[in-house]
Amino acid sequence: MTAQVSNGRRRKTRAMVMLICFVGLISLSSAGGIRISRQKLEVQKHLNRLNKPAVKSIKSPDGDIIDCVRISEQAAFDHPFLKNHTIQMRPNFHPEWLFDESKVSSKPKERSNSITQQWQLNGRCPEGTIPVRRTKRDDVLRASSIKRYGKKKHRTIPRPRSADPDLINQSGHQHAIAYVEGGKYYGAKATINVWEPKIQQPNEFSLSQLWILGGSFGQDLNSIEAGWQVSPDLYGDNNTRLFTYWTSDAYQATGCYNLLCSGFIQINGEIAMGASIFPVSGYRGSQYDVSILVWKDPNEGHWWMQFGNDYVLGYWPAFLFSYLGESASMIEWGGEVVNSEPDGVHTSTQMGSGHFPEEGFSKASYFRNIQIVDDSNNLKAPKGVGTFTEKSNCYDVQSGSNGDWGHYFYYGGPGKNSNCQ
Ligand SMILES: *[C@@H]1O[C@H](CO)[C@@H](O)[C@H](O)[C@H]1NC(C)=O
Ligand SMILES: *[C@@H]1O[C@H](CO)[C@@H](O)[C@H](O)[C@H]1NC(C)=O
Ligand SMILES: *[C@@H]1O[C@H](CO)[C@@H](O)[C@H](O)[C@H]1NC(C)=O
Repeated sequence: MTAQVSNGRRRKTRAMVMLICFVGLISLSSAGGIRISRQKLEVQKHLNRLNKPAVKSIKSPDGDIIDCVRISEQAAFDHPFLKNHTIQMRPNFHPEWLFDESKVSSKPKERSNSITQQWQLNGRCPEGTIPVRRTKRDDVLRASSIKRYGKKKHRTIPRPRSADPDLINQSGHQHAIAYVEGGKYYGAKATINVWEPKIQQPNEFSLSQLWILGGSFGQDLNSIEAGWQVSPDLYGDNNTRLFTYWTSDAYQATGCYNLLCSGFIQINGEIAMGASIFPVSGYRGSQYDVSILVWKDPNEGHWWMQFGNDYVLGYWPAFLFSYLGESASMIEWGGEVVNSEPDGVHTSTQMGSGHFPEEGFSKASYFRNIQIVDDSNNLKAPKGVGTFTEKSNCYDVQSGSNGDWGHYFYYGGPGKNSNCQ
């Protein structure tokens, strides 16, 4: 079986090589023609690397194709360090299961406003497979280069109290966040209000996420990120999508969004990374939120992720990271947009709901029950939460705490307005 596949590949490659020679011959006078067909070949090779053979494919109403890929055939296992990896089908340790079991089982009320993914309307993946959003040719072509597809373009970590104005400006990235630092953190949790912010230009985005950060803000910064985003460049539409990101070198060579490189090992058969989530909240309308928990297994050292109350998605193996191999040094929660308008005019790309924090519930977006996993592996309310925003007239943040919501904050804004030009 394996031999047949590779024979087929070799034959295909030979045919391709002949095709290139042929194209080269007929278009000697037009270098552009050769360049275009080379690029086509590169794109196809990249698509073959990303899109693994599907046991079943499901067409989602939003235009996505979801491939059900055998767990052991997912892109993670292209990584040389994972050749002999034994997949862990469940975490050995879960901060809530151990310490909050009664609460988890008595929480069905929270599911009334539960969020799901659009593709699930049209089918489910068979057991033993995971749903993977298929990468299309156009997805890759929208990236600045094939190599950069699925990776962040700039360093985008919000740096509270940074004295360096260049870093505050961060090539147009703006944030409104809450954060804790100075301790050793082994995870973080939040329940995040879900909206569909308007994006002014396709090369801008708006996201709401948590950051688990390790190391200083140098070239070897480690980061694990998860939340929702609207990113026309990455996905080709304005839908709100579940996403993750990781890097172990400040976004240079390592890491990517979702499953777009080897790294994250998915075990969950029901939730697809990068797929649209719905419904989204409406202004003065129904409110929807999702909880995201990321925690470190104290024994194996892997970083696990859970979406909602029911879905353990999978894990980032410990070896991917340096600092995060031990613990995180900072946790951040909040929103980020990129402002790429020329000539110093501010973008009207929205953060959160597009409304300022002071408007409050059902108008402004929120994070509630923000928690950290401390060095005894307990989920705890964070101590000494700070807030940070570059330009509070464009996007702002206001935090608080009460019995219902624990530590929470409202964040976001419209971007361009009379006080933010
Ligand atoms: C995988 O296992 C084989 C056989 O035990 C061994 O030869 C090889 O070095 C291992 N590879 C890695 C990356 O650990
Ligand atoms: C950020 O950049 C803008 C325009 O490039 C500039 O006017 C502003 O002063 C910068 N902000 C800081 C804090 O340096
Ligand atoms: C996304 O939204 C922008 C404006 O908000 C619009 O111009 C664009 O056509 C939308 N893109 C898609 C693919 O719907």
